[in-house]
Amino acid sequence: PEGSLGRVAMMGSKLVQDMREEKLKEKKAHEKLKKRATETDDPLSANFNSDEHTLVEEDTQKTISEWKKSQKDKNVSYGKRTNLSIQEQRESLPVFDMKNDIVNAVNENQFVVIVGETGSGKTTQIVQYLSESGYNEIKNEHKIIGCTQPRRVAAISVASRVSEEVGSRVGDRVGYTVRFDDKTSPNTDIKYMTDGILEKEALYDAIMSRYSVIMLDEAHERTIATDVLFALLKKAAKSNPDLKVIVTSATLDAEKFSNFFNNCPILKVPGRTYPVEILYSKKPELDYLAAALDTVIQIHVSEPRGDILVFLTGQEEIDNSCEILAERVKHLGDTIDELIILPVYSSLPSEIQSRIFEPTPPNSRKVIFATNIAETSITIDGIYYVVDPGFVKINAYDSKLGMDTLIVSPISQSQANQRSGRAGRTGPGKCYRLYTESAFNNEMLPNTVPEIQRQNLSHTILMLKAMGINDLMGFDFMDPPSTDTMVKALQDLYTLSALDDEGYLTDLGKKMADFPMEPALAKTLIMSSEFGCSDEILTIVAMLSVQTVFYRPREKQKEADQKRSLFLHSQGDHLTLLNVYKSWALNGYSSKWCKENYIHDRSLKRALEVRKQLVTIMSKYRHPIVSCGVSLDKVRRALCAGFFKHSSKRDPQEGYKTLAEQTTVYMHPSSSLYGKSIEFVIYHTLLLTTKEYMHCVTTIDSKWLLELAPTFFRKTDPSKSSEKRKNQKIVPLFDKFAKDKDSWRLSSQPSLKR
Ligand code: CDP
Ligand code: MG
Repeated sequence: PEGSLGRVAMMGSKLVQDMREEKLKEKKAHEKLKKRATETDDPLSANFNSDEHTLVEEDTQKTISEWKKSQKDKNVSYGKRTNLSIQEQRESLPVFDMKNDIVNAVNENQFVVIVGETGSGKTTQIVQYLSESGYNEIKNEHKIIGCTQPRRVAAISVASRVSEEVGSRVGDRVGYTVRFDDKTSPNTDIKYMTDGILEKEALYDAIMSRYSVIMLDEAHERTIATDVLFALLKKAAKSNPDLKVIVTSATLDAEKFSNFFNNCPILKVPGRTYPVEILYSKKPELDYLAAALDTVIQIHVSEPRGDILVFLTGQEEIDNSCEILAERVKHLGDTIDELIILPVYSSLPSEIQSRIFEPTPPNSRKVIFATNIAETSITIDGIYYVVDPGFVKINAYDSKLGMDTLIVSPISQSQANQRSGRAGRTGPGKCYRLYTESAFNNEMLPNTVPEIQRQNLSHTILMLKAMGINDLMGFDFMDPPSTDTMVKALQDLYTLSALDDEGYLTDLGKKMADFPMEPALAKTLIMSSEFGCSDEILTIVAMLSVQTVFYRPREKQKEADQKRSLFLHSQGDHLTLLNVYKSWALNGYSSKWCKENYIHDRSLKRALEVRKQLVTIMSKYRHPIVSCGVSLDKVRRALCAGFFKHSSKRDPQEGYKTLAEQTTVYMHPSSSLYGKSIEFVIYHTLLLTTKEYMHCVTTIDSKWLLELAPTFFRKTDPSKSSEKRKNQKIVPLFDKFAKDKDSWRLSSQPSLKR
C-alpha cells in the first residue's frame, strides 16, 4: 500500500521492539506528562491541534489532585445508566419507542430492514419484542426467533445479556450457537448464532422450518456468510410464507438492502448521540501502538472522567499493549486514579469478556483495548474517549499468492466514523485519530469492501454446491464476487478432489461440506481416518484453531524459550503442537503444568473443547478415530493431502519458493525448522509482516505431492513441454526426484461447467 498509512502497516513487527525501548524512556516521559497535566485541561491539544507549549516546573502532585477535584463536578451524567434497573434500562433504549412500529411492520411484511445507531437496542431488544408478541408459537408449533451475528463473541455476550434481561440461564430461554459451542435447549425461544452457523443449517433445512423470524444482524459488516444468507433467506421466504426476515444495519446503506428484498419497508431508529470532537494527528504516526499508549496515558492523567476505548488489530497486539500499559501505569504514582486495563478480542474467554460490561468503580477509569469487534458488534457504556490508530486486521484473498492471508489494512472512512461514534453514547466525547486529516480524506476508502469480494470462496462454494446450488454464476448475490474469484475457488475445490471434472460435488466433497472449516482442513481430517492417524490429526487441527500456544513474558524470555525447545519436533511445527497437547493430556490437563511450561492454559483448554466437537462430527459421519502410534509419517502425509497447495521448495538463492505460484517466502523464526536446510515443506498460513513468512511449517517428501494431489501436480514429458510454456516459467518442479526424468507441471484447469 502507498501513502503514510501503508508505511505504518509495514512497520508492524518492529513496533513491539520499539515499545520495549520506549519503556526505558518511561520515567522521563511520565514526569513530562505529569507536568503537562498541571498546565491545561487538554494537554493533548498540544499533540493534536495546537502548537507545542512550554512546560512549567511546579509541585505536580498537588496540582494534579486539585485539578482532579475540579473535574468531579463536570461528570454529572457519568454512570447514570448503570444505576437503572434492567427494566428501566430496556425502556431507556431508543428502540423502545419503536416497539409497536417494529412489531407491526414484521406482522405485515415478510422482509423488514431496520437501521439504527450502535447501542440503540436492536440486537438485544427486537427479538424480545417479537417473542413477547407471540412469534415463538406459530400454528401451535414452537418456533425459534433467530438472530445472526458476524462474530462469535458478540453472539455469546449478547445471549448472556438477554438471558439476564428475561431472567433465565444462558441456554434455557435464550441461547446461542457458535462453531464448536452450542448452548441451546428445546426450551430456547431466542437463539443468537454466528451467520456461519445458520448458513450451515441451511444445508439441512433450506426453508428454515424451525424458525419464525430470522434477524440478520450487523448486515453492514457484509461478511460472506451474511451475504450468502441474504440470498438463501430470500429464497427460503418464498417457499415458507410464515418465515419473517429482518435485516438490521448500523449504517445508512439501507436502501440497498431494501432493494434486494423486494423493496421492503425500512424502519429507522432515531439516534441518541452526543457530539464527538475529532482530533487528528498533525503528522503521520510512525508507530501507532506507542502513539496509542501515549494517548491513553495522557487522557488518563489529564482528561475528565470517562472510559477509553482503543482500537487495535489483534490479540497479540492487544495483550502486549495491556502488559506495557500496566507497567507504565505503575510509575504514575498513587495520586492518579486507578486505570483498569481490559482486553477484548474474539478468542477471549467469556468470563473475562463480561468484565468490560461491569460499571467502572468510583475513582477509576477503564481503558479497553479491543479489536474491530467493538466497532459495532458490542456496545460498552461509559466510553467518552476513543483512540483510533486507523487499522484493522482483515482476512483477504491475495490473488498473487492464491490464498487467504490476514493483513493489517487501513480502515474505511465509514469505519472511522463508526469508531468515533462510540465516544458519544453517554455524553459528548472525543476521538483521537492517530492519522492525519489528509490521510482520512485521501487514503481511506469511503466504504468497506464486502468480504465476498475480497476473500477466498472455496468453503462457501462447497456449501452452496452441497445445497444443490450448481448454477453459481446465476446465484442471487447482492454484490456478486468477481468471476475470477469464483473460478479460483472452483479450481481449489477441484484440486482438492471435492469437485469432479464437470464441476459437480464428489463423494469426498460431500463429506468435506459436513465440516465447519476451510476445505483443506476438512480434507485433512477425512484423509487422516483413511491413513490411520485421525487421533493425531484431530489434535493438530484443534490446536491450529487456537491462536497462541506459547507464552513468552518479556522478563522471562530465556526460561520460556528453553521450555519451548523441549517440545520442538524436528519434522516441524504441526508435530510440535501435537507434542504440547499430548504432554498436557499426560499431565492431567493441568493448568499448573501450563504455567510451568510457559504455555497458554486457556488456548489448550479451548483446543480440548474444539477437539471434543470435532470428535462429535467425525463420529456422526462415521470417520473412524485411530492413532498411528509412533509412525508420524502418516500424520505428515495427511497434512500434505489437505495442504499440498501450501507447499514450497527451498530456493538456492533465498528462502523458499511456493510450488504453486513461485512466490518467495521465508521460514518464520518461531518454526522448529528455522535455520535448517529442509528441501520441501508445507505450511499452514502465510503471515505478511516485514516479509512473507510461512507459519506452522512441516517437512514433507516431495513424492507425496504427486501421489496425493494428482489433479494439482502432474508428471509431464519435458520433450513435449512447449516453448511457450517454458517462457511462462512453468518450469519442471521435481526434475531432481523424478526417476524417469519426467518433470511435473501444474495440471490443466478443470472444466467449469455449472
Ligand atoms: O444492537 P445495538 O447496537 O443497537 O444495541 P444492543 O447491542 O442491543 O445494546 C443495547 C444496550 O444493551 C447497550 O447500550 C448496553 O447497555 C446493553 N448491553 C449490555 O449491557 N451487554 C451486552 N452484552 C450487550 C448490550
Ligand atoms: Mg447490535
